Amino acid sequence: MSRKPIVAGNWKMHKNTNEGINFASSVQNKLLKVGNVTVIYAPPFTGLFQLKVSPPYHKSAQNCHWEEKGAFTGETSVSMIKACGAEYVIVGHSERRQYFGETDELVNKKISAIISSDLDPIFCIGETLSQRESGETASVLKKQICDGLNNIESLSSIIIAYEPVWAIGTGLTADAEQIEKAHSHIVNVVSELYKKINVRVLYGGSVNSNNADQLIKIPKVDGFLIGGASLDVESFSSIVQIVEDNEEKK
Ligand code: 13P
Repeated sequence: MSRKPIVAGNWKMHKNTNEGINFASSVQNKLLKVGNVTVIYAPPFTGLFQLKVSPPYHKSAQNCHWEEKGAFTGETSVSMIKACGAEYVIVGHSERRQYFGETDELVNKKISAIISSDLDPIFCIGETLSQRESGETASVLKKQICDGLNNIESLSSIIIAYEPVWAIGTGLTADAEQIEKAHSHIVNVVSELYKKINVRVLYGGSVNSNNADQLIKIPKVDGFLIGGASLDVESFSSIVQIVEDNEEKK
């Protein structure tokens, strides 16, 4: 897997199929040359198949079930996602943990299923405000990583999205020191589990076109997972351009 930075748009429950297609073509028309960034769209399931992309643009699901098939009304398997042409699956997002009871154990089953199908998980972790305030950030992140990757024996690369829960959709972003510290910790924890592994850590939580330049320059930030600002053509394109320009200057 390359070390290119990633800019991923998690559309959550926004954009129907046509809106998604129109959005992606508007972004492509705006960004004439993207060579240094991997851009990922994560539409709702209804839009996943019809959204046609080619590199540097890629597709991700926002969730999956861990079983291959079966009587699981309303669920979608990884092989179905793969058949839509998606290469990534977001897993463990705090909204799924908070509203849909997704535990570390379920996250682990999903990650196993995603890896077995040769797709890449975008594995989300992050602490709540009360966990940060009580000094538990490092232990919470470590537990989420170790439990999420439990029994996954060999892994050559992983994408982790560090999304402090208190920064999601709030307009608050973690500061540079908090982000660098969390990302370094994540890399260390994963490197202890797997000897030779390519870990990329994305930051997520109120990223926008005004703070992206500052955030991408923080050491160990390998890109972004963006919610709100990924829904708007201007702001999403501008964030991709900022990451592209920053990479070119390296
Ligand atoms: P916001 O960018 O809206 O804070 O959302 C972040 C997020 O949850 C991406 O997965």
